[in-house]
Formats: sequence, C-alpha cells, structure tokens
Amino acid sequence: MLKLLIKGGYVVDPSADLEGKYDILIEGDKVSKVAKDIFEPEAKIIDAEGYIVAPGFVDLHVHFRDPGQTYKEDIESGSRCAVAGGFTTVVCMPNTNPPVDRPQVARYILSKSDCLGICNVLPAGAITEGRKGEKLADLWALKRAGCVAFTDDGSPLMNSNLMRMALELSSQMGLPIMNHCEDDTLAKGAINEGEVSAVLGISSRPPEAEDILVARDCTLSLQTGGHLHVQHLSSPLSVDIIRFFKDRGAKVTCEVNPYHLVFTEKEVLSSGSYAKVNPPLRKEKDRKALLEALRDGTIDCVATDHAPHADFEKGLLEEAMPGMIGLQTALPLMLKLVEEEVITLKDMVCLMSTKPARILGIEAGSIKPSSTADVVIFDPKKEWTLCEETSFSKSKNTPLWNKKLKGKVVCTIRAGRVVFRDGSFQV
Ligand code: DOR
Repeated sequence: MLKLLIKGGYVVDPSADLEGKYDILIEGDKVSKVAKDIFEPEAKIIDAEGYIVAPGFVDLHVHFRDPGQTYKEDIESGSRCAVAGGFTTVVCMPNTNPPVDRPQVARYILSKSDCLGICNVLPAGAITEGRKGEKLADLWALKRAGCVAFTDDGSPLMNSNLMRMALELSSQMGLPIMNHCEDDTLAKGAINEGEVSAVLGISSRPPEAEDILVARDCTLSLQTGGHLHVQHLSSPLSVDIIRFFKDRGAKVTCEVNPYHLVFTEKEVLSSGSYAKVNPPLRKEKDRKALLEALRDGTIDCVATDHAPHADFEKGLLEEAMPGMIGLQTALPLMLKLVEEEVITLKDMVCLMSTKPARILGIEAGSIKPSSTADVVIFDPKKEWTLCEETSFSKSKNTPLWNKKLKGKVVCTIRAGRVVFRDGSFQV
C-alpha cells in the first residue's frame, strides 16, 4: 500500500478544530495519522515546511461545458483547473448540451471524470426538463444516476409551483435544490443597475430581482422542509432575508462567489465584458454587506461559479455571455481577505472545504484520521501571474487575466494520490 508522509506543514482542519504544525500520514486512499513528528520509514515524504496544509477544497458551482460546448472547457481541462486551484471535488452545473436532465448525461460526466482520475466531478441534475422551467425532470432517476443536487442554473426557476414540488422532493431525497435567484422579468440587462450602467448607457439588472426570488424560495423551503441552496449571493437584502429564514429554522444555505467579495460594478470600466457576470458585480456597500455576512456566518460557503467563455463570446458588454473563470483564482482572492483580516485562515478553509462538503453531505472537507485523503498544500506568499503559461482553462475570461496574484497551490492530493505538484499533473 502506498504511504505518503506530509511533513512539517501548518495544518488547518476546521472539521477537527485543528490548527498548528503537524505531520500527516496517508496510507492508501485514507488519512491514517495526524500528529507531531511522525516517523514512517516506508513512506514517500512530501516536504510541506513553510506551507499550509488543508482538506482539499470543494466547489459547489462550476461549469465544465461538457457535453456540448467543449471549445470553452471540458471535463479534463476543468478538472486540471480545479486541482491546480486546490479543489478535489466540484459540482458541475447542468447547463450543458444536452443538459443534465436525464440519467445518461449524468453517467457520462461521472464516467469521464472517473476515467481521468484527476478530480471528483459530481453532476448537478436539472430541476426541469431541458431546463425550460415547465415540467419537472425525473429527479429520482437523476439521483440514482449520481446527481448530488438539482438546479436549472443559468436560468432561474421562475415557476413557484415547480419550485415547491422540487423542494418537497428534496426533503424526501435528502439532496439540495440550488437556485440562481434572479427574477428574469426584472433581470434582463447586462450589468448592475447603478452609476456605471447609467454612465455607459448599458442595460441593467437590479438587486431586487435577486431579493424577490430569494424571499420566495426561502418561504417555500420553510413551508416544505426542503433544502434550498441559494447560489452566488450578491445583494445585501437577500442576505437579510436568508438570515431571517435561517433564524426561523428553514433549511437554507447559500454561497458567495469570491469575485463578488473583491470587485464592484466599477470593474466593468477597466475589464469590460470580462467583468460581466450574472448576478452582476454590485456596489461597494453591497460588497461590504457580503463581507459582513461572511464574518457572521450567514453565508455558508464560497463557490467559484467557474464559467468559461471563448473570446468571441466576450465582445460588446450588451451581447457578451456572462461569467468568469475562477477555479485558479479563488485561493488568492480568499487569501487576500485573510491578509486584510476580514476572515481567519481557518474560516477560509471552512468556507472552501468543510462547509460545502457538509452542505452536500459528502465525505470530504476533513483530514481527520480515516477520512479520504483529499489534501491541498499551498504557499500563501507565492506571487504568480494568471496567463497562458499558468492557466489550465481553455478560456481566459476573468478580470484577473495577466494580473499578479498572491497565494499558490503547491500540491494537491486526491484520494491518497498526488494529482498536481509544482505546476504539473501526475495522472
Ligand atoms: O455569469 C454566469 N454565467 N451566471 C450564470 O448563472 C451562468 C453562467 C454560465 O453558465 O456562463
């Protein structure tokens, strides 16, 4: 049995309330021991001196565009971005072509990712057939095929009756319903409704489009007992609504995209359509409210919404496809918040690993003995630039393209195997 010994790293594992200098022994695909100064002559040593060691990150929201739009990304390139960013498990959205509204598509994703063996890629099934918002898909069949959540992501589910039925099913199945909460009769434009849209004369989408659907979905979650997971939160009133319903015992969780924590609508002025995302980047006061909600625990986790698009789809603001790649930039952006003392290092690992794993109810997000050995080792001080040489995505749509970042993954271990080390893949 292969033995790995991670030596001398600063270990952060919120699931065990553990933080400090420890060694970690991995035997086969499991963590077998976490202790000071482990001696194991048969183990292959990974020197983690000066680095942080944490449970592999878990991302509840990525778009790998496979099947159907593999010129933007595919399961292999997406998985490479994931492990290069420290993620060992990702949930991929069903807005593929065909969509994940039937078991065959879910099985295709799972078997392709199994064959590759890079990252754990789990499919989210569509809530409705064709993601059209008209008729429920066969959620039980999708669950049997391996779907771990349901969402029509990309398109909000506008039909309240279907949302109620989906949440009722969710409480029977024990899987979350994730909604992109933006009322699409209000959210028709390209960027946030505010100064920048006014100055540029660009169509816009107001935060109340989000608030209305968040309020509706939380109400239905409370009434049905179903687990609602609100995707990429961007509005302060939505945060207050979620806080209100959580206090009343609703089974509601939510995520935030790192980009909404560091950028504002002004980013559009310098990055153009690379800063176009749905829901849009909002105002400074909105960003501050999200940071507060991150601190007080209302926001449960961070998810990248890694949304690759080709350059020809990122032309003029009005016409450009919304979305940004984010798997390789999440760690440096979150480390920036740690450096600014908005959150602690332990909070960051909790938000990126322990909490998202708990939301899904999967065995991940922990490096306690006997857990699956999914581990990330990163250098919080390493400076690097995201560019053709360092990015593993097929797309480059992020305001951070060619920008200097701080904090880099040194090594990612998935189920006891080193899959990424010092910039190369070992699969
Ligand atoms: O900006 C976005 N891009 N938001 C979404 O909800 C969908 C995503 C995509 O699929 O490109």
